[in-house]
Amino acid sequence: MIGHEVTTQTSTRKRFRVQDFARSKAEGRKLTMLTAYDGLTAKIFDEAGVDILLVGDSVADNLLGYENTLPVTLDEMVVAARSVCRATKYAMVVADLPFGSYEASPQAAFDSAARMMKQSGAQAVKIEGGDRIAAHVRLLTQSGIPVVGHLGLTPQSEHMLGGKRVQARDDAAAEQLAQDALALQEAGACAVVLEMVPEHVAARVTEILTIPTIGIGAGTEVDGQVLVWTDMAGMTSWSPRFAKQFGQVGQALSDATHAYIDEVRSGTFPAPEHTFTT
Ligand code: KIV
Repeated sequence: MIGHEVTTQTSTRKRFRVQDFARSKAEGRKLTMLTAYDGLTAKIFDEAGVDILLVGDSVADNLLGYENTLPVTLDEMVVAARSVCRATKYAMVVADLPFGSYEASPQAAFDSAARMMKQSGAQAVKIEGGDRIAAHVRLLTQSGIPVVGHLGLTPQSEHMLGGKRVQARDDAAAEQLAQDALALQEAGACAVVLEMVPEHVAARVTEILTIPTIGIGAGTEVDGQVLVWTDMAGMTSWSPRFAKQFGQVGQALSDATHAYIDEVRSGTFPAPEHTFTT
């Protein structure tokens, strides 16, 4: 009960800021991150006490009906991030830069990140890749833009990776991942997401970095966890093996919709208390 009171008490809670990444790691406090794509859900996650809200490009395949993350545009990401930012008081809002908006050069990354920060109010951006985008990360962080890295399965490169599969399975790939993580840290990244890598690989990266690792499908030996909210809440009947459904929100919404349809059709809704007589 005390834990619950602490996490929902809003009067003393401060916004999660960039310094809190390193502080949490030093204190051994696990970070909680969830995706959010709109203000309605962002407010619920923020008030529940999540540290970081990620406006993920996974909005593409989870909400917008695209097949994967590649088609989502910077314009669409800005709209989603703006909605999340308006509803969020305490969590840090990190927005993904979408495929095609940053890879070509540090300048391209700066232009997209600056636009995201100006037009949405996000407090950090996330970009995918290691050493090959270290110069981009350096320019962003030197320009005052906090950056979260993303290694392992990087869905924007899924066609190069041959699908959504576990990464860094052999020693050479694990070593490359560790070097990429160090390159991001050296360039100024404040945290690194590790997606779909073996637990021992994530554990080693977590050990060698001073910035926190945030895992998704990377086991427990990381500094925090992130899940796509629709997976976490059980919005769909299917979710990836590494995700746990902590609720059955999709079923609850379906039940409510069925009840509404039944009551409208049977004439029991609206009842007298829902009806104006004068
Ligand atoms: O877009 C997203 O949801 C992500 C998470 C999988 C980390 O990048």
